Amino acid sequence: MQSASVTVDLNILAENISRLRAEISTDTDIMFVVKSDAYGHGIGPVTARASAEGVRWFAVAYLEEALAARKAAPKARILVLGPICPEEVLPAVQNNITAVVVDAVHAETLDLAAKEAGVTLETHVKVDTGMGRLGLLEGCSAAEFERIFACSRLNITGICSHLAAVDLKRPWLQEKQHDQFRQAFTLAESMTGRRLMRHFCSSRGVQYYKDWDYDAVRPGILLYGYGCNDPNMRVQTRPFLQMTSRMMQVKDVPEAYPIGYYSSYRATRDTQIGVVASGYADGYLRSMSNRGEALVHGKRVPVVGRISMNWITLDLGPDSGCKAGDDVTLIGEQGPESIWADRLGRRAGTIAYEILTAIHPRIPRQYVGAV
Ligand SMILES: Cc1ncc(COP(=O)(O)O)c(C=O)c1O
Repeated sequence: MQSASVTVDLNILAENISRLRAEISTDTDIMFVVKSDAYGHGIGPVTARASAEGVRWFAVAYLEEALAARKAAPKARILVLGPICPEEVLPAVQNNITAVVVDAVHAETLDLAAKEAGVTLETHVKVDTGMGRLGLLEGCSAAEFERIFACSRLNITGICSHLAAVDLKRPWLQEKQHDQFRQAFTLAESMTGRRLMRHFCSSRGVQYYKDWDYDAVRPGILLYGYGCNDPNMRVQTRPFLQMTSRMMQVKDVPEAYPIGYYSSYRATRDTQIGVVASGYADGYLRSMSNRGEALVHGKRVPVVGRISMNWITLDLGPDSGCKAGDDVTLIGEQGPESIWADRLGRRAGTIAYEILTAIHPRIPRQYVGAV
């Protein structure tokens, strides 16, 4: 019996999309980031529902993901944020996918591949304004742009960059990036003589820098319901992925009884230990050992002992009333209590992104509000 399951309520995604849309201008598109299987939520159903809600652009990391998104949203615009390779030019064009170019050599390589295939590839130029990852180096030279714009088989329609930080204590970090981005698009547009589609902000940028919305905002985590923990933030959304597992055994143990590998926990009183049918093989991170929490019978209980491959142990407290077969919420809510991925992330020394994308794809996802 498969014990863990994930429920994804797409009606809440639709609500999140409307809340974002209410804050941005009608001239700004939402480019929804659905890479890594839509942050573990399932790229097909998420893309299909968002597209039905009027989202026109989607962004992914790899071509393979773009093809999955294309199946779900036949008419949407899809941008691959990572550099595609020459063999991917033809399938990208055949599936109406937009690629990024990350430097002049990359642009020329794709241009050559497009010529050989007899196609023209739509592209956006990616500028590194301080992330130190993909893209033309900050202060990119006119010479490098010239080489890119000379690529006759690339139809360059956009320019983008990615924020490394939105740090409220050191605002100059993001402001410097924004200055670099403005210089880059000003130069690029003056060289092409065309207005390019500009996009810059991921979720945190959207929350704090309204003036940087440009032609599209590029949120991921915000539309999955996170990154809005301050009620004064511009957009408030709600999480909609819940992960549930099953209690397999409940047993009475005496005070000081050792729990799990290497006895990292000993019962602090006579208590009941619940053994739950999920572990790190399901994506419940081992760093949650002695730190995680779960909800059982509407009550918050601590994860005790080390997480093992297939089992989690909970200290249910004496006379818990729990029994084998009970539902255990690992991520989500039961009555007034909730444990969302950001809270688990803080406890496990990581972030909601990692908690969500770690959930193993083998765990069945059930969808509410799928189209
Ligand atoms: C280039 C780019 N844009 C946008 C995003 C979305 O970021 P977030 O989920 O923080 O909104 C990512 C995510 O890593 C990204 O790499």
